[in-house]
Amino acid sequence: MEFVLYEQKGSVAVITISREKALNALNSNVLKELDSVLDGVNLEEVRCLILTGAGEKSFVAGADIGEMSSLTKAEGEAFGKIGNDVFRKLEMFPIPVIAAINGFALGGGCEIAMSCDIRICSDNAVFGQPEVGLGITPGFGGTQRLPRIVGVGMAKQMIYAGRNIKADEALRIGLVNAVYTLEELMPNAEKLAQTIAKNAPIAVRNCKEAINKGLDVDMDQAIIIEEKLFGNCFESYDQKEGMAAFLEKRKVEAFLNR
Ligand code: CAA
Repeated sequence: MEFVLYEQKGSVAVITISREKALNALNSNVLKELDSVLDGVNLEEVRCLILTGAGEKSFVAGADIGEMSSLTKAEGEAFGKIGNDVFRKLEMFPIPVIAAINGFALGGGCEIAMSCDIRICSDNAVFGQPEVGLGITPGFGGTQRLPRIVGVGMAKQMIYAGRNIKADEALRIGLVNAVYTLEELMPNAEKLAQTIAKNAPIAVRNCKEAINKGLDVDMDQAIIIEEKLFGNCFESYDQKEGMAAFLEKRKVEAFLNR
């Protein structure tokens, strides 16, 4: 891999987008590598992923403007599909993904962060969908995920005005859950990932599936999705161990993902 690094530390793995000279902008090669890295995650062992960018300045500064500049309508649509397919894979990935946003998260950078389950950032982070200033719409899910996360009014304002916001405002509007200094960002991302990884993996995965799938349908269908995933946890080793530990007033020995 030239542009995407992957490091597994026990049950947590870190994916780093590493194209620092272009502030980690996403060209087709980066997207292709990201897709392959996701396909290679060992889901028997890894229980939570962290996604970050290389360096101290930028998480991801967007889709590659140089690559996009000469695209035809059909090529533009195809490029959008490449990004959308990878980001959807990330969003529906079986285990939780934490975006540790260490600087610029613009355009495709904001969009990839929004495809993650949880967003935390450093205090130098900058968010925005500046695409209209380039003569295009957001193309990797921004028009769809931003309104779902921060509400329609705020999303429309950010997208139509193409105005970037800083970390404190991102926190205020609910685009991120927490802001840390740059030095504290990764330790906190890892701490959160470890906390998630300690819980019963089948249950965590079923929670993610229930939330994601439930949000796409009406409440009557959504609660049925929940019932099935709730039921699916029973008879697992981890459900028996989790409940036995409570009833026997002891700590869980270990969740085994089975
Ligand atoms: N695409 C390609 N190259 C990029 C890039 C991008 N999105 N963002 C930064 N770079 C490159 C710059 O061209 C520059 O390269 P050179 O050194 O070869 O000139 C290098 O990264 C460093 O960038 P700057 O010199 O501009 O750094 P800066 O600190 O002055 O500014 C910045 C930083 C404000 C992030 C600025 O680089 C910038 O505005 N970048 C573009 C942000 C943007 O518009 N993103 C949205 C892209 S469109 C999109 O993402 C569509 C979609 O939804 C799919």
